[in-house]
Amino acid sequence: MKKIMILGAGVYQVPLIKTAKRLGIYSIVVSIPGNYPGFPLADKVYYEDTTDYEKVLEIARDEQIDGIVTAGTDVAVITIGKVCDELKLCGLSFEAAKVAANKFLMKSKYEAHGVRTAKFREIPLNADDVPSRVSALNFPLIFKSVDSSGSRGIVRVDTEADFDAAIRNVKENTRSDYYLVEEFIEGEEFGAQAFVYRGEVSFILPHGDYVFKGDTGVPIGHFAPYDLAPSVIEDAREQLAAAIRAMGLDNCAINADFILKDGKTYVLEIGGRSGATCLAELVSIYYGFDYYEKILRCALGEDVVFDCGRSAVPNASMLLRSEKTSGTIKSQTDRNPENPDIYDVQFDYKPGDHVEKFRVGPHRIGHVITKGETIEQAVATLHKALENIEIDITPAS
Ligand SMILES: Nc1ncnc2c1ncn2[C@@H]1O[C@H](COP(=O)(O)OP(=O)(O)O)[C@@H](O)[C@H]1O
Ligand SMILES: [Mg+2]
Repeated sequence: MKKIMILGAGVYQVPLIKTAKRLGIYSIVVSIPGNYPGFPLADKVYYEDTTDYEKVLEIARDEQIDGIVTAGTDVAVITIGKVCDELKLCGLSFEAAKVAANKFLMKSKYEAHGVRTAKFREIPLNADDVPSRVSALNFPLIFKSVDSSGSRGIVRVDTEADFDAAIRNVKENTRSDYYLVEEFIEGEEFGAQAFVYRGEVSFILPHGDYVFKGDTGVPIGHFAPYDLAPSVIEDAREQLAAAIRAMGLDNCAINADFILKDGKTYVLEIGGRSGATCLAELVSIYYGFDYYEKILRCALGEDVVFDCGRSAVPNASMLLRSEKTSGTIKSQTDRNPENPDIYDVQFDYKPGDHVEKFRVGPHRIGHVITKGETIEQAVATLHKALENIEIDITPAS
């Protein structure tokens, strides 16, 4: 029986753990302790910090694992790189992982390799001359922690008066001693899922994003196909392929965030793992294969074919969120009648659990995924399905 180590035990790793079980692969889950749904599903659990790569490497060695992987989070990607390098496993390299985990290193690679990206500056955390350091950039700006995810530590700034508040927010969300300021690109946010295996880009699937406008944009849902002019899709593919090369990514899933402005794709960031927010499901439904299975098999170094020509099933998804308040779930009901076009309705929590008023991705409380013959049908079904879901939350006092 092959052994896969899965980093993380949260909602985005659960499908990996379940798929491993279905395929007869022994799953070793590593995560900090907590109320995570992946623990009871795993064959074996280690309660360790997934960012502690020396510790995880030691366990991986002892267990003689055949592969290591995660989904939907950047947190543990560096550890995957470290373990893959040391144990000669199939996955991204430590070098590439370090670049993927740091928005400044990543943007520097883009700049060096001519990948289109927003103009940026690196700023020391305690710099007191920020205005002069960013004087060559045009407002609006966006202040960014280099090492966080889920839109944490990322603030749009329209005037100099907002600098201090933005810097405070960055400081609360970084372990680094510098941050990034870049030009804010006014455009339409979209993304792509892709896979790079044995040096070849296996597929690139652009998708549309539903974005919640909080302090900054937070992706809350996705859909595919995304109706773009062929020239725009071609440009996005070129930028993505160049960005993958620039970062030295190989043998991993790719989650790309873009902004489209005047028909040109700007690369916001790329992660060396599959996307969160129902994006792995988007790939599975669209192409008609189990993407989690491909991800696992690649991590095990097996011969994997991405048969992407078979189907192109339109689909859409949306996170369930507590929009008005933080509090306790009183009840949650899915009143949807049986419908083959409703692919999945998931509640992340149980009645009695505490949930946060939605501001960032990890505040999700569930999701809905639909499909259809056309994207319009998939989206209409999504909205109807959402109307039939009732979640009652007692506000925290
Ligand atoms: N240069 C930019 N211009 C416009 N919006 C941006 C820019 N950078 C980030 N954003 C917004 O902030 C969100 C989060 O930024 P991103 O760099 O993708 O970090 P994260 O790792 O938190 O997803 C993006 O999805 C987008 O909505
Ligand atoms: Mg992002």
